[in-house]
Amino acid sequence: MSGSLAFGLSSFVTSTRGSVSKRNQPQNSINFVSVESNSSDTVTVPIGFEWSVVASWGDPMWTKAPNFNSKTRGTGESQELSIGDNIDGMAFFEIEGRSILVVNNEYCNFKVIYGNRPLGLPQSLDDLRKGMAAHGVSIFEIERTGRYWKVIKDSFYNRRITPATEMEITGPAAGHRLLQTAFDPSGRKVLGTLNNCGNGSTPWGTYLTCEENFNKYFYTQDQNFNSSLEQNRYGISSTNSGYGWASLQERFDLGKHPNEVNRFGYIVEIDPTNPESIPKKRTALGRFKHENCAVTVCKNKKVVIYMGDDEHGEFLYKFVSKNSLSTNKKDNMNLLEDGDLYAAIFEETGKGYWVNLLDAGMGPAQTLIYSRLAASKVGATTMDRPEWVSLNPHTPELYCCLTNNKFRGRRQGQKVNAVNPRRENVYGQIIRWRPDNNDHAFSQFTWDHFLFAGNPLVHDDEYSGSDNINSDNMFNSPDGLSFDSQGNLWIQTDGDYSNTGNFKGMGNNQMLMADPNSGLVKRFLVGPNECEVTGITWSSDKSTMFVGIQHPGDKHPEKYSFPNEAEGVPRSSVIAIYRTDRGMMG
Ligand code: FEO
Ligand code: CA
Ligand code: CA
Ligand code: CA
Repeated sequence: MSGSLAFGLSSFVTSTRGSVSKRNQPQNSINFVSVESNSSDTVTVPIGFEWSVVASWGDPMWTKAPNFNSKTRGTGESQELSIGDNIDGMAFFEIEGRSILVVNNEYCNFKVIYGNRPLGLPQSLDDLRKGMAAHGVSIFEIERTGRYWKVIKDSFYNRRITPATEMEITGPAAGHRLLQTAFDPSGRKVLGTLNNCGNGSTPWGTYLTCEENFNKYFYTQDQNFNSSLEQNRYGISSTNSGYGWASLQERFDLGKHPNEVNRFGYIVEIDPTNPESIPKKRTALGRFKHENCAVTVCKNKKVVIYMGDDEHGEFLYKFVSKNSLSTNKKDNMNLLEDGDLYAAIFEETGKGYWVNLLDAGMGPAQTLIYSRLAASKVGATTMDRPEWVSLNPHTPELYCCLTNNKFRGRRQGQKVNAVNPRRENVYGQIIRWRPDNNDHAFSQFTWDHFLFAGNPLVHDDEYSGSDNINSDNMFNSPDGLSFDSQGNLWIQTDGDYSNTGNFKGMGNNQMLMADPNSGLVKRFLVGPNECEVTGITWSSDKSTMFVGIQHPGDKHPEKYSFPNEAEGVPRSSVIAIYRTDRGMMG
């Protein structure tokens, strides 16, 4: 088991259970008594904290939209005017003293949004329109009246961005023949964003939404369609995963419009201050299954962005902008148009380095459109599904959740290695790295493991987890990850909630708070049944933490109904969490 003597650590612990690094500095902390794991259909937080629902899938954002209808589950038109489904990454913006939440809507739960249909599948063209409108990004103003935050309908800032919203393709790949289609011979205009997973935000006040499993929306009935090597690498095939959007818009038919899919898989920059602004797809940041992104600035004022590609055996990436950050917001609005893209190599020694993808020799545009292939060519290290990356606000170190990888040690190219040391990794681990010279512009870095998730009740070997994991704080499949402004690390899980076998005693998906210095991990929140906990942000005064409860009742929507039992329909929701003493939440 690896564990490097990174960062001049003041103490270092090894054991057969897996070694992690510990530092002795005290950490600002939010005090609470950990909650126990459970399998309840509600949100559980510690004594001294409370939560409320801010917005749920189907809530109207304008007065002209009807209230959510639990029988019909809405129409295409009502969905276009309402909060999208599957709440994921999110960010809070204070704009001219007003509070704006920008929230990703990753995909839709057929059994929930089509729960009015006998088969739980779309039956009409309007059903398809509704499914499409449930995706994208929801931007809405909120206000706090008394204790609770509520959506302000008809706010100037309210906006729904969907797979039908006009966007611009920017950067070195824009206009390339692989991005040209019958609808857009310029290769620079595209409709919409798909499968918006995690997020980032920039120092100049824009929101970054990350397109993850974009391949699932493209398919064809064309018998002559043969997927290319490049398409195979992105999981693009003729199979219809159920969305059926080609019946609504022909561009989703791979046989008829093979290049349309090349226009997805990017990070999209959105200006929340201007509801009329055109979102920009940033090809310079590469094309893969983007999870989230951590944005920072290096010593020479270049913008550096760290990104994970969430697929078994895919890679970690770093972008460095060509131009430098300006004090003028306007000058920064195109900073993400050009720069260098790198993939990470983790050596066995606890050192690592970033390799420029241009070294793959594929040319600038193809390097960005087929970043996965370029990263393979330069020998990047295959990872156990990189999910969120987060930057410590106190020191230039990055943390990343490697959620799990059942293929580790079994699939070609995915041998057990130092950074991904467990064969058939069902629990996941959190790694961290620090650039040499404490400068994100440096190619070399030092890495180690912050923790290995595991189950000490079931295993007494490496699958029991690292020393900072015990039967009171265990979890599986770390996914969402974010530091708060005090330097506490919040870990959200998207794992197996069966509470049996390997996962016995872990209960529902959860959120934990960790101290990056001591390694202490405490369970702060348990989500409702069959949900994933994902997406986190804070009000500007830090008195409220906002968290996403995604796909509650995922497998059995007929059994569960978070957050409103009377409705009988489980709905993805943004919740707000407060301290009862109104203290800081991070
Ligand atoms: Fe949308 Fe990898 O999570
Ligand atoms: Ca995720
Ligand atoms: Ca996940
Ligand atoms: Ca998810």
